[in-house]
Amino acid sequence: MENNIMLNKDIFWVGKVDDRDVPFHRLTLTRGTTYNSYLLMTEKPTIIDTVDMKFGREFVENLKNIIELEKIAYIIINHTEPDHSGALGSLATFAKNAVIVCSKLAVVELKEMYKLHNREFLVIGDGDTLDIGGKTLRFIETPYLHTAETIVTYCVEDKILFSCDIFSTHIANYEYFNDIAKEDIKNDYIGYYNLIMHPHRRYVQNMIQKIKDLDIKMIAPSHGFILREDVKSYIDIYDTMSKSTKTSKKALILYSSMTGRTKKIASFIMEKFQEQNIVSEVMDINKTSREEVLKAISEAQAIFFGTSTKYADMIGNMEDLLKSLNTINLEGKLGATFGSYGWSGEAIEVVQDYLKQTNIKLLNTSDIIKGTGMIDVQLPIRIRFAANEEDLKNIERAVIYTTDLLLSTI
Ligand code: FEO
Repeated sequence: MENNIMLNKDIFWVGKVDDRDVPFHRLTLTRGTTYNSYLLMTEKPTIIDTVDMKFGREFVENLKNIIELEKIAYIIINHTEPDHSGALGSLATFAKNAVIVCSKLAVVELKEMYKLHNREFLVIGDGDTLDIGGKTLRFIETPYLHTAETIVTYCVEDKILFSCDIFSTHIANYEYFNDIAKEDIKNDYIGYYNLIMHPHRRYVQNMIQKIKDLDIKMIAPSHGFILREDVKSYIDIYDTMSKSTKTSKKALILYSSMTGRTKKIASFIMEKFQEQNIVSEVMDINKTSREEVLKAISEAQAIFFGTSTKYADMIGNMEDLLKSLNTINLEGKLGATFGSYGWSGEAIEVVQDYLKQTNIKLLNTSDIIKGTGMIDVQLPIRIRFAANEEDLKNIERAVIYTTDLLLSTI
């Protein structure tokens, strides 16, 4: 374990530099990374985040040389992914008196991940503070940066933001601080942003709004360099890169409805796109000529196909329309499916099968999880009878996700 590095009085880096080729989100980090953990040596000693599970034992052994682990009062887990929470199980075993501090969503995950069902947790929410004896920590919820349970921690007296994945870089380094880095880190910093944060840039903007009034002298993230020089410029990069750009992108919602419920879903999808400032149009394919429908498809960048299910199949002109798609080029367009059903909703699946035969990019939950880690966007949109409140929320999330994809492509 590396020497422990001081950020400010009583605040130390106690993490791990990982200079391997690091497997990460189906990529390999050829420049390695670091897992930055911090120890605040106050009257109630506090750890902020840990290290990757692979280095858990080493992390704990190193801490034993610095502090009696039973004296640790709090372990703050900003984000549950195992590159940060991975040593929690080992640490909690020795730090018997430590209360684990995290968001409400994180409690469930951490208890399961590290068998901590009998452990004391302190659940914090947006704006809550914690007195650790000589320093005050304020917590800010930053959902989807990059997973739902994520928070960041601000030390009021030292003006340090412990930002976990946010404002990170993936570079194994032994300089620790950006002002003494051997090279300009901005390219790596932007590369990290594009890889991890940009798919969630709407949430980046929310985060920027939440931290904009904080006096931040230093950002202590959980990967790569601690930022203590030109701090504002690093925040500004996130702000600029995550701002929405004007778009001429268009969404088209096609439907074939039996009782009117699928039609209602179509209208709701259109409204949600309009709320996102995406031009959108709804079309009843049974009342519109095929030429008109195909022309609208050719002009749209996102196309939602909806049908009711009757006798386990599509209704109206939907199947004929789908067959005709083979004759046109859908490359670069996004596709999604939806529909109301009463029993099994087979029609929605059959529409999916047809679309898979084309070159449209068909949106589905599996790819969303793999691409972004978001688990609450259900696509296709399958609605039993009429949409309930949760269905409507899911539609909104699906539209927001689609909008973000539209805005991230030229
Ligand atoms: Fe660095 Fe989301 O883990």
